[in-house]
Amino acid sequence: MNNLTVMDHPLISHKLALLRHQSTDGKAFRELVSEIAMLICYEATRDMKTHAVDVPTPLMTAKCQMITTDKPVIVPILRAGLGMVDGMLKILPSSKIGHIGMCRNHDTLQPEKYYCNLPADIGERTVFVLDPMLATGGSLAAAVSLLKESGAKNIKVLSIVGVEEGVNKVHEAHPDVHIYLGVMDEKLNEKGYILPGLGDAGDRLFGTE
Ligand code: PRP
Ligand code: URA
Repeated sequence: MNNLTVMDHPLISHKLALLRHQSTDGKAFRELVSEIAMLICYEATRDMKTHAVDVPTPLMTAKCQMITTDKPVIVPILRAGLGMVDGMLKILPSSKIGHIGMCRNHDTLQPEKYYCNLPADIGERTVFVLDPMLATGGSLAAAVSLLKESGAKNIKVLSIVGVEEGVNKVHEAHPDVHIYLGVMDEKLNEKGYILPGLGDAGDRLFGTE
């Protein structure tokens, strides 16, 4: 699939092993989510446009490249997407930040929107949507629809753990959206949890389990 990148890197594999472990505490879990987000961001920004600049070093002029279109907006899906914001901001410090509140109904597994606040100029920006878990894909598909209704055109999804079913659901609704995934897991269980997964990401991030 040319609109899916599954990260294949020893640093991410190692951090994922730690992240999944049931004994990993909240502090370590938050740090790992942030670090993995930063590493995925590195890949998701690979196509950023640059332009040539002359930089005076202490010895001579160096021909360098700098980013031309530095107008990103990052949009975490509440709650769990918030855990990825710090890592993204380390790489893209000038980003604007939008928020979408989406909660999956425990019985129907359908996403229910409860909050949306996006920058007015979102249509001129590259949008990086953050959600560590891509399970049925309902939440991310709905979030991307909302972003498009608000004028967003260039949208990338960054997720840490996903399954094929969820990726397909997002791509069926939004074939133009590139998904960057830390790892592709096996399947969903009967309650819509990713297996082997890491449990409930929001609860582990915020200590509400
Ligand atoms: C989780 C997760 C995703 C969603 C994934 O959020 O953070 O947003 O479920 O499931 P889906 O792909 O089947 O839609 P949840 O609804 O549990 O809310 P929370 O982040 O507030 O815990
Ligand atoms: N949301 C989570 O936090 N974990 C899952 O496995 C699925 C949805």
